[in-house]
Amino acid sequence: MTPKISFRNVSKSFPLKGGDFLALDRVDLDIADREFVTVVGPSGCGKSTLMSMAAGLTEPGTGDILLDGAPVAGPGPDRGVIFQQYALFPWLTVRKNVEFGLKLMNLPQDERRKRAEHAIELVGLSDFADALPKTLSGGMKQRCAIARAYAVGPQVLLMDEPFGALDALTRVQLQDQLLDTWSRERRTVMFITHDVDEAVYLANRVVVMAARPGRIHRVIDVDLPYPRTEEVRLSPEFSRIRNEVWHSVYHQAPAA
Ligand SMILES: Nc1ncnc2c1ncn2[C@@H]1O[C@H](COP(=O)(O)OP(=O)(O)O)[C@@H](O)[C@H]1O
Ligand SMILES: [Mg+2]
Repeated sequence: MTPKISFRNVSKSFPLKGGDFLALDRVDLDIADREFVTVVGPSGCGKSTLMSMAAGLTEPGTGDILLDGAPVAGPGPDRGVIFQQYALFPWLTVRKNVEFGLKLMNLPQDERRKRAEHAIELVGLSDFADALPKTLSGGMKQRCAIARAYAVGPQVLLMDEPFGALDALTRVQLQDQLLDTWSRERRTVMFITHDVDEAVYLANRVVVMAARPGRIHRVIDVDLPYPRTEEVRLSPEFSRIRNEVWHSVYHQAPAA
């Protein structure tokens, strides 16, 4: 079966005084349709660059990035992108923020309204649909950003440390909500995080990257059942996988 997203021998350099800086070195990765893949690795190992290329916001240097087997040519409504910073329009209400992305799709007004309503409900913000972002907590702002991405109905969600700025409790709630939505409206998710627990809790597979140059260090399968519950989180198997990921993130041999 054609992978949903493929990175084929992808390298990327950035020009730097005194020569190019190799940010990503020959990355090969296939993400299957409806798979949930998390990416962890030290700061600067190229996680955001990798995701930005899948989003069509950054061009690969060499190699190919394919979506359903076709080269990525730029951003598109088939991919929803969510960053750590919520990037909401401060002068628009939650509802208007969520509807904004739909305007570009030329949907009739009542269809826009319906889709926005559904997405806002999915993230549990219905009571705040008419609130402005400045009146919301960080967690609620991020829910709004997620609703905006959901509303467009993308087959792929690209999430770059989306819960990184949130407190631990809000984070766990949003993790559960994301998994809940993912299991009901199966989509392909590529999710970057600094947090090893989060990486294991969410994923079918964890991609561990290494730095200098940025590359894939290991890919670790997470053979834990969904739904991921408290029980799963506290299981010995979870600990075992978490320790394995932790070890491969923090005890990487330096690049040859
Ligand atoms: N536009 C750019 N110009 C120059 N260097 C960049 C640019 N974007 C990223 N880099 C460099 O590439 C490396 C990888 O960055 P990034 O993908 O943001 O890493 P991560 O998200 O894993 O922390 C870093 O060393 C960063 O400084
Ligand atoms: Mg980053």
